[in-house]
Amino acid sequence: MKCLIDIPQLSVGEIKELMDTAIDIDSHPEKYRERMKYKRLATLFYEPSTRTRLSFEAAMMQLGGSVIGFSNSESTSASKGESIADTSRVISCYADVIVMRHPKDGAPTVAALNASVPVINAGDGGHCHPTQTLADLLTIYREKGRLDGLTVGFCGDLKYGRTVHSLINALARYNNVKLKLISPQELRLPSYMRQRLESGIMEWEETDSLEDALPSLDILYMTRIQQERFADHDEYIRLKDSYVLNLKKLSLAKPDTCVLHPLPRVNEIDVDVDSDPRACYFKQVENGKLMRMALILRLVDGDDVPLPESFSDPGLVCPNPRCVCSSERSVEKKFIFSDGEKRCFYCDHKAIALENK
Ligand code: CP
Repeated sequence: MKCLIDIPQLSVGEIKELMDTAIDIDSHPEKYRERMKYKRLATLFYEPSTRTRLSFEAAMMQLGGSVIGFSNSESTSASKGESIADTSRVISCYADVIVMRHPKDGAPTVAALNASVPVINAGDGGHCHPTQTLADLLTIYREKGRLDGLTVGFCGDLKYGRTVHSLINALARYNNVKLKLISPQELRLPSYMRQRLESGIMEWEETDSLEDALPSLDILYMTRIQQERFADHDEYIRLKDSYVLNLKKLSLAKPDTCVLHPLPRVNEIDVDVDSDPRACYFKQVENGKLMRMALILRLVDGDDVPLPESFSDPGLVCPNPRCVCSSERSVEKKFIFSDGEKRCFYCDHKAIALENK
């Protein structure tokens, strides 16, 4: 199968190959101008997006290919009740690669299991966002010259911020990376991510103080509080301004700290910071397009990128109400072994026994 659902599918070597291709595309764009001639990419966006959808479209066009798709599922047959599985089968008749964003955790996995062309996850609920991570990794690599030995601070909404989850999963593959997780108590990492860190995959600590963490950071990854994922609007209002990075706070950071943000920002980074040389979030946007070009080439022309081995167990259930397996009809409940636990194949939450549900 050729798909990218989350970063652990790629080895460190494969990530390096994608980065090398992206850098080569940047230096020699003419070499790649016709690589996707006569190929078509479909963007199936069931949730809003600016960067991810348009950068995939720009990437495919720069490779000489063409683009079809939708940016609002209300105008599609999903609004009449068509399943993700059927939609994926149908779009496979029209396109050579599918890019999907969906509000349900695990939805692109369902698409990958049913499509006959490669599927790329462009963000699934609060779960993961692997192509943003590819943009983040290339930005860190270009700014720091390495991905090992870094102290990385994640600040803001670590609970619902899918870009945080994918980037942590990626950084866990590199040597001697330390995490500082900066958030209010209510927005700490979800339990399945905490369990992964508690299993000892990397050094990490938590704090609610950006000021305390800043002086030690090589990378500061700011995030938006994800309003669209809150069940309680009053809680969002209470938490939305938890952290605002301004020039005064940034003066606590090292002279070469790299400030990242997946964007869109609301007000968690003051616009005055944009002109500071440490602000790298608009470089991430450019690197995102390059990495998406490299990924399209890899998936359309390259070898399989398999999903993890899964198994069925009628005695287990996924406890996550936001998982696609709880809403999409005819999705077979499946599980994987990961970090010593049985987890949902679609959303990574730790499975629970049916009788405990
Ligand atoms: N970073 C990111 O995913 O941005 P969009 O939501 O605009 O695609």
